[in-house]
Amino acid sequence: MAWFGARRRGIIQTIRTITEMKAWSDRIRQAQETIAFVPTMGYFHAGHLALMREARRRGNRVVVSVFVNPTQFGPKEDFNAYPRDIDRDLAMAESAGVDIVFTPSAADMYPAGADTFIRQERLPVHLCGLSRPGHFTGVLTVVAKLFNIVNPHAAVFGQKDWQQLAIIRKMTTDLNFDVDIIGHPTVREPDGLAMSSRNARLDPNLREAALCLYRSLAAAEGQIRNGVTDVAALIRAAEKQITAYPQNRIDYVRICDPDTLDDINTITGPALMALAVGVGDVRLIDNTLLRPGDQSLDTRDCRNMTGLPKTQSKE
Ligand code: PAF
Repeated sequence: MAWFGARRRGIIQTIRTITEMKAWSDRIRQAQETIAFVPTMGYFHAGHLALMREARRRGNRVVVSVFVNPTQFGPKEDFNAYPRDIDRDLAMAESAGVDIVFTPSAADMYPAGADTFIRQERLPVHLCGLSRPGHFTGVLTVVAKLFNIVNPHAAVFGQKDWQQLAIIRKMTTDLNFDVDIIGHPTVREPDGLAMSSRNARLDPNLREAALCLYRSLAAAEGQIRNGVTDVAALIRAAEKQITAYPQNRIDYVRICDPDTLDDINTITGPALMALAVGVGDVRLIDNTLLRPGDQSLDTRDCRNMTGLPKTQSKE
């Protein structure tokens, strides 16, 4: 079988150039097969593997990209410190049944003189967009490029990055990408910490402090079960959990409309609670859907923290 330059490492194939990736994708499409795609920045954990397994269900062929995208990091952010280990990633992707790992270079993705970026107007003015100016322009630009290169039928993203998922969905609609965008529930450690590649940067002391994100979501859900609907009170309860650790710095704690991300004052229906916290020098995010009156939101069961029905929770 011709692999158009794909390099064989064990069973999984890696493709490094845009030209080879496009050729592979064209060939697969000509054979009437479907491609499910998981864009990543690598350093895989169980959350990534869940996305890959979801992709396996969505297409005949699964492509995962590993590219730490420089344009979505601000000048003072952790681009250099972002963890990387491609050999470990390849072994893990292989275990999840991935066909191709696409590892383009920055020079190939952003050749000298590249000067076109995708900017969205409304959703990025909330949450992470406020503290990370330009971040979503970098995300949208790289995801649009990856969609053009990989040409997938479906793409899977984690709901831990709720705002990113919403922004990518909107771009896909607005720019007429023929890609089915699939959101996957957040995968958590047994104690509730949301899986993130950045967790690898937490020493044991910071790892303990990082639990405040899950605990703040749980605190707000507990208050809702007690009948509290005032958003300011819910946010206060959450913030108390975070500031209990001197290592923590609140970036934001917000309760907002899950679609528009506009702030709300009172819980009357499903609402997104989203937070970002600097734990030492590691910035972590998390979120949950608050649903008043929904008794299934038992925060002791961390697998149910997305607010989605238990059958959709993973791990
Ligand atoms: O969520 C991520 O890992 C990144 O933002 C993405 C979508 C791969 C774009 O670089």
